[in-house]
Amino acid sequence: MNKKENHSNNLGKFILGLGIIFGLFGKMAFFGIKKVKSNKLNWRMGLLIAVLIAMNISLLSFDWDSSGFLICSVIYSLFFIALQVTILGIQDWISLQKIQNNLNLAGLKNVLGLRPKVIRIIKLDEFRTKLIITAKGVGINQFSDKKGQLESAFQETIELIKISKCKKFVEITLCKRELPSMIPYSEITQKVNKESSFGLGESLSGGFLTQDLTTLPHLLIGGTTGGGKSVFFKSTLLSLLKTTPHVQMYLIDLKKGLEVKEFGTLPNVKIAKNEHEAIQVLQSIKDEMDKRYIYLEEKTKRKTIIPKLDKKDLIVIGVDEASVLYGKTTTNKTKKELVEKARELTDELSKLARAAGIHLIIATQKPIKDSIDTKTLENLPGRMSFKMSTHAGSNSMLGNAKAYALPDIKGRAIWKGGNKFIEVQTPYISEKELEEEISGIQELYDSKKFKNFEPLIELKQPDNENKKAFKAKTTKDNG
Ligand SMILES: Nc1ncnc2c1ncn2[C@@H]1O[C@H](COP(=O)(O)OP(=O)(O)O)[C@@H](O)[C@H]1O
Ligand SMILES: [Mg+2]
Repeated sequence: MNKKENHSNNLGKFILGLGIIFGLFGKMAFFGIKKVKSNKLNWRMGLLIAVLIAMNISLLSFDWDSSGFLICSVIYSLFFIALQVTILGIQDWISLQKIQNNLNLAGLKNVLGLRPKVIRIIKLDEFRTKLIITAKGVGINQFSDKKGQLESAFQETIELIKISKCKKFVEITLCKRELPSMIPYSEITQKVNKESSFGLGESLSGGFLTQDLTTLPHLLIGGTTGGGKSVFFKSTLLSLLKTTPHVQMYLIDLKKGLEVKEFGTLPNVKIAKNEHEAIQVLQSIKDEMDKRYIYLEEKTKRKTIIPKLDKKDLIVIGVDEASVLYGKTTTNKTKKELVEKARELTDELSKLARAAGIHLIIATQKPIKDSIDTKTLENLPGRMSFKMSTHAGSNSMLGNAKAYALPDIKGRAIWKGGNKFIEVQTPYISEKELEEEISGIQELYDSKKFKNFEPLIELKQPDNENKKAFKAKTTKDNG
């Protein structure tokens, strides 16, 4: 290599280096300008302007001709502003680099090996920060799947992962607070005070959330065994009983009614403990629904029942372990017919019952067609999903992997109301507290503060012939 080539090579490197330095300064200045534009500087801006004026005044102490002073003052001021803006930008630039490094730790990449890039950090409040990320070729599901890694990388809780409105960016909301792992029912009783409402749980951004059943109108509770479905099912029923002065509740618990036995002492609650009683409940309520539709048509100009005005009770049907009632695994013919009947009636109720003041609350491990009819599923918009052990499970409950990505904390769930998915810690109630609360409700009925407008449906045992046939077939099937 001759001397001349070497010289031009060094010059090239020098220019490149200079370019990088200017580029870096330019980038910091860019962040600085954004900060100035965001109007968040207030007193700092005032201070900088004061310093600038003071500097210009100090220039006056030199001997100037007028154009010389003007030129010098302009250059001096521009340099000062550029320097300050760059300094202001450094802080933001460093925090962006830190966040980018943390994001890289989660190991997200597209097929070309390119990593998602943080382009903006927005401070939402004292606890929460929103990251705007460009992620070409990295799907939102990949972010959701890595929620655990992302949380450990950022050392913050992830409150929300979603696609931005313009579909170009992924938005991640980080939160410095953590959800508690236990919310005792006794702490929420004051907060659940609206009529026909129940508590959903403590959330990161909205505090304790409640829901009015009449606006829902039906609720599906899902999640693998041990997550907290039955506890939530019971706390929901309890809150509804406490907040609704005129309600009839029909609980279908084919595990001999053991889960909900505490409710059975109340005058406005009936428990169906076998398939026959369950069908009877569903059929009678379906008939009541039809009657209420005729009533609406003939006696009012309204499309929906208003319990107090129409003197008709709100009706709640609760089914824990839906797969026992609707499960298609049996080969027993009689049982198969009962399952079909139960499915058919529930489907009709899920479609039409809302306007008639009738609401369904159904809990199931797996919201799949083997456990519960797909048409019924479509009509249960309120979803509380506890931890799911598979993507598919979470997907069928919520349409995304959020319930799969939940931490292994009992009572932790994703609430889907409308288009929002909110992580909540659902309230916990012990058997003893439940019994005490139920005695409290009993007193409201004894003192006639709460009362039903109409008598409850009588549950008749199936006639002997039917029962014998059913029993014989079941024994044969099982044995
Ligand atoms: N909200 C909650 N907070 C704390 N622990 C809970 C909560 N819900 C349930 N648990 C615990 O988890 C156990 C299983 O809950 P359960 O409701 O029976 O689950 P599933 O019906 O989903 O199988 C309960 O016995 C209780 O100890
Ligand atoms: Mg259960």
